[in-house]
Amino acid sequence: MKIGIDKLGFYAPHLYVDMNDLAKERGIDPGKFTIGLGQDEMAVPPVTQDPVSLAANAADQILDEEDKEKIDLVIFGTESGVDHSKSAAVYIHQLLGLNPRARSVELKQACYGATAGIQMAKGHIALHPDKKVLVLASDIARYGLNTPGESTQGAGAVAILVSASPRLLELESESTYYTEDIMDFWRPVYSTTAYVDGKYSNEQYIAFFQKVWKDYQEQTGRNLEDFAAIAFHLPYTKMGWKALRTVIEDASEEVQERLKNNYQISTKYNRNVGNIYTGSLYLSLISLLENQDELKEGDTIGLYSYGSGAVGEFFSGKLQPGYKKHLQTAEHQAMFANRECISVAAYEKVFEESLPTDGSEKQLNIDEDPAKICLAGVKDHIRSYAAK
Ligand code: HMG
Repeated sequence: MKIGIDKLGFYAPHLYVDMNDLAKERGIDPGKFTIGLGQDEMAVPPVTQDPVSLAANAADQILDEEDKEKIDLVIFGTESGVDHSKSAAVYIHQLLGLNPRARSVELKQACYGATAGIQMAKGHIALHPDKKVLVLASDIARYGLNTPGESTQGAGAVAILVSASPRLLELESESTYYTEDIMDFWRPVYSTTAYVDGKYSNEQYIAFFQKVWKDYQEQTGRNLEDFAAIAFHLPYTKMGWKALRTVIEDASEEVQERLKNNYQISTKYNRNVGNIYTGSLYLSLISLLENQDELKEGDTIGLYSYGSGAVGEFFSGKLQPGYKKHLQTAEHQAMFANRECISVAAYEKVFEESLPTDGSEKQLNIDEDPAKICLAGVKDHIRSYAAK
């Protein structure tokens, strides 16, 4: 039985800041952001979007009534969840009108959470082939104004429908993973922004890639030539290339060219959104599938997932016949086209806006947010959402 990704949806907030403007305002050469990091634009979430509403907007695009009936497991991967106790998956369940006869949970391991969710979803579908699993990857990446991590912020969500007989990507059973307790990036429960040892995190991302890639080669006998493309977790778009270039010389010139070219295409959307933590790898996959017309049925795509702290995994999937017809290319391109570029001063203002944490009530103005599903406010410590 084939099990894999049947549908992929993506949502980013409607506001963004141009990285050239941010660089100028911070007194930095813009080339550092656009070339050194490979980021052109950074999504800015208004206070009316949180990880729950972002994910609901991503999932709303792809689910039909049959999906809603058949989903009996909702897995929400996030590291910016809105409650220490209640899972974001339960909020989503209600917002999307899913069948109540379902399990709903939140998973956390930095940017790796959604990959763990996808692997669990595969096991669930193997036991219940007539069901579907909704995996959500949604985050707001915050390091703080004027910090070294500021240029690698972002916000957005990917919704992934996992099922038998998938129409996009069959997930193969070969997969290699590695865990080691390190402090490269973390966010203590009292902090709204992440702590990071930037250089060390880069080194560990690469070291974990090399470990799982070597294990994968040994386990499967595959090499780089077996892949049409490899998509990476992208905290910024140069990061995956820094890992890939450490192994790419093992391949022929032709294979190197192909992987390099497809790597560039897989970074297109991420360049304009920034880091979305759990969803970054899957945004890169969407970017590849929607923007590369030369991929074909049966092509193998490699995927490298990394979540600080840290867990890394290398796995793979096979493109399915007619997959192009089942992508949301036009919707995603329209979403990008309709975003609004804001000044650095406006971004800083939006960044500082937050819900009260002292129990007081706040109603938000959702008229300025074009998203279908918005965070509408908080009252008695309870968040309320509105679907327009
Ligand atoms: P930094 O100190 O701002 O930048 O840190 P830098 O000095 O390292 O420069 C960055 C690059 O720009 C360098 O290129 C420079 O040479 C180049 P490299 O040597 O790396 O190839 N550069 C220029 N290029 C062209 N024109 C110029 C110019 N000037 C400089 N004029 C850092 C950058 C990414 C470390 C920082 O932003 C940071 O700490 N970000 C957050 C951490 C992060 O993203 N780590 C990535 C790996 S960990 C991960 O992926 C997990 C994560 O997603 C979290 C999770 O799992 O939940 C973060």
